[in-house]
This record gives sequence, structure tokens and C-alpha cells, in this order.
Amino acid sequence: MTTQTHRLYLNEVATRDGFQNEAVFIDTDEKIALIDALSACGYAKIEVTSFTSPKAIPALRDAEAVMHGIARAPGVVYTVLVPNVRGAERALSCNVDEVNLVMSVSESHNRANLRMTREQSFAQLVDVIDAVRGAGVAINVSLSTAMGCPMEGDVSTSTVLDWMARFAERGVYGVTLCDTTGMAYPSQVRELCERARAQFGALELTLHFHNTRGMALANTLAALDAGIVRFDASLGGLGGCPYAPGATGNVCTEELVHMLELDGYDTGVNLAAVLDAAARLPALIGHDVPSQLLKAGRRTDLHPLPASVQGMPEQRAFS
Ligand code: COA
Ligand code: ZN
Repeated sequence: MTTQTHRLYLNEVATRDGFQNEAVFIDTDEKIALIDALSACGYAKIEVTSFTSPKAIPALRDAEAVMHGIARAPGVVYTVLVPNVRGAERALSCNVDEVNLVMSVSESHNRANLRMTREQSFAQLVDVIDAVRGAGVAINVSLSTAMGCPMEGDVSTSTVLDWMARFAERGVYGVTLCDTTGMAYPSQVRELCERARAQFGALELTLHFHNTRGMALANTLAALDAGIVRFDASLGGLGGCPYAPGATGNVCTEELVHMLELDGYDTGVNLAAVLDAAARLPALIGHDVPSQLLKAGRRTDLHPLPASVQGMPEQRAFS
């Protein structure tokens, strides 16, 4: 146990990044009940849903009904993903606290995900920023593929910083750097985070890791080393990217909280409540979830001594 007591801020993305990838449509009432349970877990932020084209993301076609149906807890920021002005108008009609705009910093992934060039996306997002400005709603921009593109490979740090600069000039409140397909590795994360913090001290910076190659927790530690205090995470480790085959789940919330608590961080999140919420997922989505913690329990959830050992003499020599 270290003596660190840093306050961290977690954003739960399972009902957006997770549910957008599920084959079954999760009933609106069930989504609302889960989000209401998450609202009592101590998150700083919850990414509730996305206001995207229902043809592109049918799983989230009930975004308005979900936003109107949830009971908002004071102190929690309720954010939604928005790809264009139409999505922003829908989001504003639901009184969201924040809109999370999205584009990829690599051309190929942006074309696959958003059917536009990066410049077309940027132009659209500037229209969104203009539409939202004055509505009292915070604007965050999620930059996908910031640590690698599944079609182009490495993305240079300067490319990422250039896109951050263009949005910073437009006055956005925050930027999330997304490792959309789990390509990041710790030394890369540390360098990118250090440079981003040095150049954009006024921006609220969040890191979004996927565990596609098992590196999400390691990357989180690297980001912490670089002074990052905001992280996206997904209950049960759900998540993915519809346009990057094999891009499995986000860093798992309960595993992240478990690790960070052990190391003395204050995540604000109640681990027992999060585990209870995660345990509901398999029934909701009809399959097992990636979470290892849900299977293994916390490190101090002890097991009874096996009956076969109980009758043994106290000491036994092994030769
Ligand atoms: N909400 C609802 N409907 C929308 C919409 C929105 N935000 N944006 C577009 N549409 C509808 C249009 O009305 C149109 O409907 P129609 O076919 O009935 O006329 C249809 O979607 C196509 O619209 P168009 O403007 O041609 O967009 P597109 O087909 O090029 O789609 C996106 C662009 C970005 C809207 C769409 O690809 C999308 O929503 N993608 C989701 C991206 C995403 O969330 N990825 C995962 C997370 S990173
Ligand atoms: Zn993601």
C-alpha cells in the first residue's frame, strides 16, 4: 500500500461503448434501471447513450427515452456521444450535462466509423460546437485511434496534438484520448500524456483504454504517472468498436477500481456496488462478460480450507 491519496474521476461508459456493440437490443426499462443503479455508485460521470443514426447504431435507438427515464443523481455529470448537429439537437432536447463529440485522428478509421474525411468531421463538429455553445452544456471531444489505428498502424504524437490544438482553439472544455482498439503501450501512453498535459494545461484531459491486448491496466498506471486523473471505464469490461473487428472491451471498471483502491487512490466509486451492478450484466446481454474480478472476486475474498486438508496433521514433512 502506498501513501497516495489522489482523487480520481471515473466515467462509466458501459451503456454507450458497451451496449452499442451488443447484438441483442436491451430493453429501454432495463437500460434505465442499470443506469439508475450506476448513479448510486459514486462515478463522476456516466456516458448514458449516443445520439447517433439508429441505422448505424440500432442498439441505442432509444436514446431519448433512456435520457428522459433515468433519475439523475446530484453531482454526477450525464454525458452522451454525439456525431453531428442532428445528434446535438436531440441531446440538447434531453437536457444533457455534456455532449461528447467524436472523431478519429486517423483518416481510415474516421472514414469507416463516421463515413467522412477527418476534415469533414472537423467541419461538422465545429457546427456542433457552435450549436451547443450558449446552451450551458459542456463540450468534450473524444479523439479515437489516438494511440494507433487498426488500418494505418501508429499515429504520430504530433498528429494527436495537432487535433487537440484545433479543438482547444474552438474552446472545448475537455478532450478524451481514446485507445479505441487497444494498441497503446505504457511508454507511449506516458509520453503522449505528458506532452498533452504540458501543451493543454487548461483542457480537462481523460484517457480511454480498451483491453484488446491485455494492456489497459498497465496503460492506466502509465497515464497516472503522467498526472492523468480522469479515466473512462466500462462495467464488466464491455465495449468495442463496430468498425474495428476484434476490438474488444474497455478497461473493466471493477478491475480498475479494485487495483486503484489497493494502491491508495480515491476513485469515488464504491467497489461493492459496482460489482453488484456488473453481476447483472450477463442476464441483460445474454452472455458472459470479460471481467476477471467478477469471476475471481476481490483479492481478499478468501476461500474455505478444503475439507481434505482439515483432517490433516498440523505439520507434515515433505521429502
Ligand atoms: N440521429 C438520428 N439520425 C441520424 C443522425 C443522428 N445523429 N445522423 C444522421 N441520421 C440519419 C439521417 O437522418 C439519415 O436518415 P434517412 O436515411 O432515414 O434519411 C441517415 O441517418 C443517414 O444520414 P447521413 O447524414 O447521410 O449520415 P451517414 O449515413 O453518413 O451517417 C453518422 C453518419 C455519423 C450519423 C452515422 O454513421 C453514425 O451515427 N455513426 C455512428 C458512429 C458511432 O457512434 N460509432 C461508435 C462510437 S465511436
Ligand atoms: Zn471505446
